[in-house]
Order: sequence, then C-alpha cells, then structure tokens
Amino acid sequence: MELQFIPEDILDTAKGLDCILGELHPTDISELLNSSVLAGGKRLRPMLLFLIAKHLGLKIDELVPHAICVEQIHAASLAHDDVIDEATTRRQRPSINALSSNKYAVLAGDYLLADVIWRLAELDNIEILQESSKVIKDLSLGEWIQLKSTESQSVSFEDILDVAELKTGSVMGLCAAIPGIIHGDEKVAVALRDFGRSVGIAFQLVDDVLDFSGDPQKEPFNDLKNGQLNAVIYKLFDLSAELKDTFYQGKLTPESISSELLEQAKNIVKDVAKEKIEYAKRIITEIPGHQIASINGLLDLIVLRDY
Ligand code: FPP
Ligand code: MG
Repeated sequence: MELQFIPEDILDTAKGLDCILGELHPTDISELLNSSVLAGGKRLRPMLLFLIAKHLGLKIDELVPHAICVEQIHAASLAHDDVIDEATTRRQRPSINALSSNKYAVLAGDYLLADVIWRLAELDNIEILQESSKVIKDLSLGEWIQLKSTESQSVSFEDILDVAELKTGSVMGLCAAIPGIIHGDEKVAVALRDFGRSVGIAFQLVDDVLDFSGDPQKEPFNDLKNGQLNAVIYKLFDLSAELKDTFYQGKLTPESISSELLEQAKNIVKDVAKEKIEYAKRIITEIPGHQIASINGLLDLIVLRDY
C-alpha cells in the first residue's frame, strides 16, 4: 500500500505497534494471536486514529494505548468472524480457527476483549470506555443482522448499509472519535465519529467489490461461496430477478453471472462508496487542523484500492 502521504512519525508509531501488540500476552494465547489475527495487518485503524489526533494537535505517543485497544477489538472481531465464516485463511495465512480450532479461536477472541476492558479501565476515561463498549455491541449486532439476512429475501440496500456501518464503520468511527473525545470538544467528537463511520461504510463497500475483483489478500468470491449477501450481490438482484432466485436457491456461482451485469453492479456500489468518502471529506474540512491532505490521501486510497 502506497502511504507516502502519511507523516513519518505516524508511520513509525503505527509500525511500532506490531512489537507492542506481539508482546502483550506472554502465553500460548499470544502465540496463536501473533500467528493469525494480529499478524500482517495494515494497521489502518491506528493510522486513522493517529492522523486525526495529529490534525487536532494532540501528541501521537499519548494515543498509543488507545490505538492498542482499537487494534485488539478489531483482532478479536476477526477471530470470532473466522469461526462464524468457517474461514481457512486470513491475510494469506491459515486463519485462527484453522491454525487451532473453533474453541481456541473463540477463547482467544474473548481473552483479547477482556484485555481491552482492563486497559480501558486503566486509561480511566469513562466516555471512551462507553464508546468502545458500544462499538463491541455494534460489531456483534452487525454480524447478527448479517447472519439473519442470509435467511430473508426482504433485505433492503439500507439494511446492507446498516450492516456495513455496524461491522466496519463502528470501529473506524471509534478511531476518529477517540482523539475528538480527548481533545475535549463534544461537537467535534460527534462529527468525527460520523466521519469515521462513513469512511468505514465506504471501506466495506470496496471490500464487497474486491470480493469479485480479486483482492490479493483474499480468496475470490468468498461471500458468494458462503451464501453471504453483500452490496454487489444485492445490486445484482436489482438488475436480474433471476439471479436473486438462483442465489436464494443456493445455486448462484461466479460463472453464472454475466460479466456485463457484474460490472454494472460493481460500478453502482463503487459510486455509493465514493459518495460516502465525499461526505467524510466534507466533515473533515469543517474541522480545523493541518492534516487535511494526509487524511484525504488515506480516504482516496480506501476507495481506489485495486479493483
Ligand atoms: C469481517 O467481515 C468481520 C467484521 C469486520 C466484524 C466481525 C464481528 C463479529 C464476529 C462480532 C463479534 C465481535 C467481537 C468484538 C468479538 P467479513 O467476513 O465480511 O470480512 P473478511 O473477508 O475480512 O472475513
Ligand atoms: Mg469473514
């Protein structure tokens, strides 16, 4: 990933997290986590948190404990997600469940969440504690609704966007809101949460597009193979009622979708992602600071990832 527009101190601090995260838990739980959900990530969420902090004039180093909590919440959600999705790989390595078992993967995720609660209590900021707990609830709710939606044919595109906001927007909203809360201006914190959530929705929509275009980090057509409704699949239904029927009969395969229809559906979803990013850019422009160019660079990268 090209990150030349991110300030050097942020890149260094985000990179330094690898070492800290890797040494937090001196047990074989740590060994399992370090070889799976804590390995090979881009640390995109901490980078977003640091960029917003720098924008508001905060000291990056003071935000490191918060970045650790956010990254651990994210890692815990991936551990549980890989169990739910019966994944075999994550970031081109064996997934945590494949490396151990569902039982160990769930326990390792639980352990990470408990560690986050411990750290948040030590940080002694009740607002951030509540904001983080709400995000953990949102993550679970998002996955729950997503699971339910595979059983129902009356899902709307709004439902798909709600799931994207809950399962991906929530953590990015937290990354942006934390510096706002520490900065001490409630209006700014609320605007930043909204900013981060919009960025997260865009990120998830691009992920849904990449599921069909080949993300080098992921197995292609994963959602389709798992019968998981994503934004592109939903838009395909709008274009062809026949495809919708085939999907709910569990028979929709990548080969049965015409490339023309697929391209159309992907473009519609990409346009929604771009709108979400434009909305986020409008919010950040209103918040005084010196990191607009870097923040916009990161946002552009999110929608322009290879697809
Ligand atoms: C990845 O989605 C999944 C998430 C971003 C959220 C998962 C949340 C839970 C399992 C709820 C429990 C939460 C906690 C904190 C324990 P995906 O499957 O579409 O993407 P992938 O291809 O990266 O797996
Ligand atoms: Mg998954």
